[in-house]
Amino acid sequence: MRTYPPIGGIRTVTEFKAHLAALDLAIPCDDQLQSGPTSPLAQPIDFNAKQIGNRFCIHPMEGWDGTVDGKPSEATLRRWRNFGLSGAKLIWGGEAVAVRYDGRANPNQLLMAEENKKGLAELRDALLNAHREISESTDDLVVGLQLTHSGRFSRPNIKTKPEPRILYHHPTLDARVGIDGDYPVMTDGDIRQIIDDFLFAVRVADQLGYDFVDIKHCHGYLGHEFLSAHTREGDFGGSFENRTRFLREIVAGTRTIAPRIQIGVRLSGFDLVSFRPDPDKTAKGKMGPGIPDPYEHAVPYRFGFGVNAENPERYDLSEPMRFLSLLQELEVQLVNITAGSPYYNPHIQRPALYPPSDGYEPPEDPLIGVARQMEATRDLKRQFPNLILVGTAYTYLQEFLPYVAQAAVSEGWVDSVGLGRMVLSYPELPLDVISGRVMTHKKICRTFSDCTTAPRNGLPSGCYPLDGYYKQSELGTQLKQIKAARKSK
Ligand SMILES: Cc1cc2nc3c(=O)[nH]c(=O)nc-3n(C[C@H](O)[C@H](O)[C@H](O)COP(=O)(O)O)c2cc1C
Ligand code: SF4
Repeated sequence: MRTYPPIGGIRTVTEFKAHLAALDLAIPCDDQLQSGPTSPLAQPIDFNAKQIGNRFCIHPMEGWDGTVDGKPSEATLRRWRNFGLSGAKLIWGGEAVAVRYDGRANPNQLLMAEENKKGLAELRDALLNAHREISESTDDLVVGLQLTHSGRFSRPNIKTKPEPRILYHHPTLDARVGIDGDYPVMTDGDIRQIIDDFLFAVRVADQLGYDFVDIKHCHGYLGHEFLSAHTREGDFGGSFENRTRFLREIVAGTRTIAPRIQIGVRLSGFDLVSFRPDPDKTAKGKMGPGIPDPYEHAVPYRFGFGVNAENPERYDLSEPMRFLSLLQELEVQLVNITAGSPYYNPHIQRPALYPPSDGYEPPEDPLIGVARQMEATRDLKRQFPNLILVGTAYTYLQEFLPYVAQAAVSEGWVDSVGLGRMVLSYPELPLDVISGRVMTHKKICRTFSDCTTAPRNGLPSGCYPLDGYYKQSELGTQLKQIKAARKSK
């Protein structure tokens, strides 16, 4: 039974602020929205030789809809066009592009390869051309490409078959991907090969004119797993220096082979233990609320990054602060702060009212999840005023997103407000907000999680409930059937 009111039922900013106060959440929220060139959300950010034209960022979001050899499909191009039409001036990577075949998170993920260069160039062109339709200039549009290896969560060949590539054995996550203590960990030699693959991808992104590459360090994928490899031996585990060697070598290599291109890092700025549905409260067709996997045998907890080792149900920003210091030393200015992982603690990573099919009922008011990410980002920003920080997890705010975004930017909690799911259902929200147009309520993402449930069940991602492209297609019918079958189990 849900014990909190869905945000969709809150009608006014005043009521929303009262609800925040009742929950004792510090989320800032303005009473009135400003529009036009003086609006806080319309202010540029200096970045390298360029300016980022406003304070909206589009987060990377893969669609599980590339071709099997890793080229974009028409659906991929459509999504990137929508990113260009959004009006946001920072495009954080478009979507995760695997740097090698065995590092794909699904068999339809985009893949960096000589023969896929043309497709990756077309994506950028489509985005820029779309942006020209709504903006006088693309000079202040900064476009990155997110580079990744999926590590523990690799599924390169068959959607349902994990083929993990792990750095160390994990007390709760090994079982999630079907491996036991005998499963081989990657060697230092394997890692050096992957660093070379990243550098090949950097060179291609540079040739194709992308402004920056994101060396992805979030959501449980390989880059993120390095940061928690306390128990790994050798050059890439144990000390902080070793756990950040992967990043440092890619940054050093990039400066040598492609000095023009900028570097960004998307970071899970904190993490918690893994969660599962409470078995005692799971009934036919209905998952129970999330509870932590048993972890007591693994305390002090050395299997996460930004996790409190004594109480891993809490986060601890001391190592993430150290990591941001390192980024500053390495002159990496662009940092996108996210949290947790969609695979093992989705309520931390993307707060939602409705869980994805492999998740659990939210164990807390999703607003608490929004506040958790916002407050951690604020604390990091206070310590690192010279870094450009992008914030995450704003979509659950729905109608109140622009009011919170404006206050967060004005009060210096964050430099740029990142949008994920909201852009799948309502791509032009940034443009509407900055131009002072009334928001289109029927396009607002209600966090139904179908964009996560679809790929978990072998279908491409997309906004099935609100975007006619999916809703009215054969895919929409298939997803309805899958959901009905699950309910009747
Ligand atoms: C369908 C889908 C695909 C995603 N793919 C990626 C991805 O490729 N790379 C990434 O860093 N995050 C990815 N994310 C996470 C989002 O970038 C974002 O962090 C998350 O949705 C929370 O932001 P929101 O509350 O605005 O949705 C994805 C999220 C969704 C819903
Ligand atoms: S499917 Fe659409 S409404 Fe549901 S969470 Fe995704 S973007 Fe939002």
